[in-house]
Amino acid sequence: MIYAAVLAGGTGSRMGADRPKQFLEFAGRPVIVHTTEKFLRHEEIDRVIVITPADWCSYTEDLLAGCFGRDGRIIVAAGGETRNETLMNAVAVIEQEGDLDEDTIIVTHDAVRPFVTERMISDNIRAAQETGACETAFPATDTIVETDDGKMVANVPDRSRLWMVQTPQSFRAKKLRELYLSLTEEEKSVLTDAARIYIMKGEPVSIVRGDSTNIKITYPGDIQIAEAIINMGSGQ
Ligand code: CTP
Repeated sequence: MIYAAVLAGGTGSRMGADRPKQFLEFAGRPVIVHTTEKFLRHEEIDRVIVITPADWCSYTEDLLAGCFGRDGRIIVAAGGETRNETLMNAVAVIEQEGDLDEDTIIVTHDAVRPFVTERMISDNIRAAQETGACETAFPATDTIVETDDGKMVANVPDRSRLWMVQTPQSFRAKKLRELYLSLTEEEKSVLTDAARIYIMKGEPVSIVRGDSTNIKITYPGDIQIAEAIINMGSGQ
C-alpha cells in the first residue's frame, strides 16, 4: 500500500493569520485543498491521510468533502504537538487500518507546499521502495554560512555540497516507526526532521530532485508568491 500523509498539524505562528496558514486561500481555494488534490490525483497513491490540529478535523472533513465528495481514500486525523508527533499519528492511522507491513510506503508532505509535482511523488515512491527512506532536496543557490550567535560567521561550507531540503520525505512506514520508538526523549526533542532520524541511526536516505517552485508557505508574502507561481503555470 502507498499512503500519503499531508501534514497540516501546525498553527502557522509566523504567518500570524486568523487561522492556520494551511486554510488560507490562493487561486480561490485553501492551500490544504491544492496540496491534497496533488495526492488524490496521483494514480499510485492508495489512501491520503490529512492530519490537522484536533479542533480543525471536522472543518477539514467538510472542506475536503465539499471539494472532492466523500472520497473513501481520504482519512482526516488529529496531529500532535510537534511535526514528528503528527507524523507518528499518521503512522498510527496506517496501523489502525491494518496496513502497517514491511512493504507499506508513507509519502509525507507539508500541507503548506502546494506545488509538489506528480514527478516528485513518483520519484519518492520509487526511492523509498529502493532505499527505505528518501527526501526531496534542491541544490543551494545562495551561499550558506554557519554561525553560533547570529552575529559572527563561524564557517562557510562548500556550497557545491549543500542542498536545501523540501518535502515529500518518504519511508517504509514500519521501519520509520521502529526507528522513532528507539529514540530517547532527548533525541526526539532535537530531531525536527524525520530523515535525520535515519541519518542518526546510520540508515541510508536517498535524494529525490526537488524544484525551486516547491515553496513552503511560511510568511504572509508567500501567499502572493503562490498566486504568482500558479499564474506562471508552473504549479501544476
Ligand atoms: N506541522 C504538523 N504538526 C505540527 C507542526 C507542523 O503537521 N505539530 C506541519 C505544518 O502544518 C506544515 C509543516 O508541518 O504543513 C511545516 O511546518 P511549518 O512550516 O513550521 O508550519 P507551522 O508549524 O504551522 O508554522 P510556524 O512554525 O510558523 O508556527
